[in-house]
Amino acid sequence: RKVAVLMGGPSAEREVSLSSGRECVTALRGEGYEVVEVDAGPDLAARLQDIKPDVVFNALHGRWGEDGCVQGILEWLGLPYTHSGVLASALAMDKQRSKEVFRAAGLPVVESQLVDKASVMAAHVMAPPYVIKPNNEGSSVGIYLVHEVANGPPQLADDMPDLVMAETFAPGRELTATVVGAGDADPGALTVTDILTDGWYDYDAKYQPGGSRHVLPADLPQEIFDLCLDYALRAHRALGCRGVSRTDFRWDENRGASGLILLETNTQPGMTPTSLSPEQAAHCGLSFGALCRWMVEDATC
Ligand code: DAL
Ligand code: MG
Repeated sequence: RKVAVLMGGPSAEREVSLSSGRECVTALRGEGYEVVEVDAGPDLAARLQDIKPDVVFNALHGRWGEDGCVQGILEWLGLPYTHSGVLASALAMDKQRSKEVFRAAGLPVVESQLVDKASVMAAHVMAPPYVIKPNNEGSSVGIYLVHEVANGPPQLADDMPDLVMAETFAPGRELTATVVGAGDADPGALTVTDILTDGWYDYDAKYQPGGSRHVLPADLPQEIFDLCLDYALRAHRALGCRGVSRTDFRWDENRGASGLILLETNTQPGMTPTSLSPEQAAHCGLSFGALCRWMVEDATC
């Protein structure tokens, strides 16, 4: 079968996607698929019509690749593709709207609001500590942490969007859980990783080898471990995700079970050498190649 692997693209996570894409291309070739690499640009639809793949493996991250746009093109072309469909992708990428979905499903999220950039820079929009982030980026691109009032309001870079999200800072340990499964069918949460960093789990900590240490499985009270698996699965279902998703948490251990907060669900989790989902899959006996094969065979449109 012929698989087109979409990677790169114009988002702020282009480099991450190229890294994910390269790993998946190698793995899928190893699994015996005929693989065509496609750096996604404005000519994507025409290129796919030329290539005529049986399946599209979406290794894009960030805007256009993870927010329903590319998924819409693939639906339009009638090509089966990996990961979530249009609606789940668009919902998950919109951090504010996905929180509304999570809240309705009874999942714990912190307070946040969408604010225009000028107001954010003029005065504190909420009591510190709080976080300012784009409403629709991944990999900690464009995140500002405001520790205390004396720091003053953050001065945002020019490339930040006009509307940003201000969110109460959720302190605690950084946990994550991957779900593998097909929407309503029988998805399962794999395991929980505890991510240890010297400071903030930012872009460098995410992608520099040695930038963070992953404790897998996380050393947590059983109740918290199980809650992470339960919340990750419920988040996957509430958004209507398909294939693989990864849900990120913070856990304030001083507050027990009520200190577990759901930060976000990623519908295109990283597949780079330092990424969390492939590592969790391997821990559960699913090799990188087997995971990629499963995704291709599960692809639909
Ligand atoms: N946004 C990156 C790729 C992740 O969530 O893994
Ligand atoms: Mg993310």
